[in-house]
Amino acid sequence: RHVLVLAGGLTHEREVSLRSGSRLTEALRRQGTEVTLRDADASLLPWVAEHRPDAAVIALHGGRGENGAVQGLLEMAGIPHVGTRSHDCRLSWDKPTAKTLVQRVGFPTPNWITLAHNTFRDLGAAAVIDALIGALALPLIFKPHQGGSALGASVARTAAEVPNALVQAFAYGDVVLVEQFVEGTEIAVTVVDSADGPRALPAVEIVPDSGVFDYESRYTAGLTTYWAPARLDAATAAAAADLAVAAHQALGLQDVSRTDAIVDASGRVQFLEVNVSPGLTETSLLPMSVEAAGEDLGGLYLGLVEQAIA
Ligand code: DAL
Ligand code: MG
Repeated sequence: RHVLVLAGGLTHEREVSLRSGSRLTEALRRQGTEVTLRDADASLLPWVAEHRPDAAVIALHGGRGENGAVQGLLEMAGIPHVGTRSHDCRLSWDKPTAKTLVQRVGFPTPNWITLAHNTFRDLGAAAVIDALIGALALPLIFKPHQGGSALGASVARTAAEVPNALVQAFAYGDVVLVEQFVEGTEIAVTVVDSADGPRALPAVEIVPDSGVFDYESRYTAGLTTYWAPARLDAATAAAAADLAVAAHQALGLQDVSRTDAIVDASGRVQFLEVNVSPGLTETSLLPMSVEAAGEDLGGLYLGLVEQAIA
C-alpha cells in the first residue's frame, strides 16, 4: 500500500497538524506501510494526479482540513480517504450545527447563543452584552463557531471579562458561539468504525494544572494530567460512550471521530463538540485512548486505510 498523509496546511492549527502528521507517519511506517507525508499546498493536486496513492489520511486540523474542502478534493480525484466525507464535515465543523443535531437525537449540551459580528453594529456593544448575560447566566465560554485547539476560546466569569472574551473569539471569524460554562470533568471519547458498527474507545479525562484546557495546556507536556481510562463510574462511562457513538451517527461521521464532553456536577454527560480530524500529537487525546484500549495507533489507522479502500 502507498498511503498519503496530509499535514500542515494554512490554518491556525498548522503546527499541531505537523506534529500529528509526523507521529502518524512513523506509526504507519512501523506497520510496514509505504507513506508519503505531504503538506496541503498548491503542489498537492499535481502530485496526487501523478502518483495516485492508494489512500490518504488527513492529519490536517482546522479550516480546510476539517471543513470538507480537502476531503472534497480527494473525493473528486478518486483517492479514497480515511475519515468523514466532505459534505458531512461541514456539519460537524460548525459547533452550533453539531450541538443542534446532537441535541435533536436526545443528548444534553450546554445552552448557547450564536452571535454574529454585525449585531454589534446594529445594536451596540453594551446592549448586546447585557442581552447575553440576561439570556445565559455567567459564567460563559466564548468560542469561534468554527475552530479547534481552544484557539480564541475563553471563559468570562464576570461581566467585565465579556468584552475581552468577545474580542478573542471574533479574532477567528465573524460568528461566535456563546455557551453556558459548565463546571465539571472534561472528557474525550474516540469512536472508531468497524465491520460491527461504531465502537467507543475508553474515555480520556482531562485535568489541566491551570484549570483551563487552553492551547498551552494541550500542547506543552506536563501541564495537564490525563487519565485513560477516565475515572468514571461504570454508568457514567457507558453514558459517555453512548453520547459519542450517537454523535458519530447523528453527524454522519465516518471511520474515526472524537467527541469532547463534560460530566457536570450532577453526573450528566453533556456534549461540547466533535472532531473529524482528532489531534495525534504526543499530548493528544486519541492516541491515549488507543493505548488505553490496548491497541496500536499505526495498526488502527492501517485498518481504517484498508476499510477506506475496500
Ligand atoms: N483540534 C485538535 C487538533 C484536536 O481536537 O485534537
Ligand atoms: Mg476540537
